[in-house]
Amino acid sequence: MSAAATGRPICRLGDLAEGETKGFSVETSDGPQEIFLLRRNGRVIGYVNSCPHLRSPLDWVPNRFLSADGRHVLCATHGALFRIEDGYCVAGPCAGASLTQVELRLRGDEIVMEP
Ligand code: FES
Repeated sequence: MSAAATGRPICRLGDLAEGETKGFSVETSDGPQEIFLLRRNGRVIGYVNSCPHLRSPLDWVPNRFLSADGRHVLCATHGALFRIEDGYCVAGPCAGASLTQVELRLRGDEIVMEP
């Protein structure tokens, strides 16, 4: 899915069910960027889809970003685990590093990425 970052929606809130994760390709002033969104406890959080270890995409199956127990974001390449709420790496080769968070806002029922 492609969306412009400046004021255009990434998706609708209803497109992202509680506990679900989804990847998107967005246009930014620096060019296309891969991001993913996750919805947890009603809150939507977004991160750049790039592991701080080797800058690989985190998912090995499209739209699958969580560990099997659903408690962490998982990098499929070398298994780093990140806290869902702030992207901090708690285990793996990049422990102590963090995912890059994406600034989001809700505009009605649309999820919009801030430039
Ligand atoms: S690329 Fe993510 S843990 Fe190595």
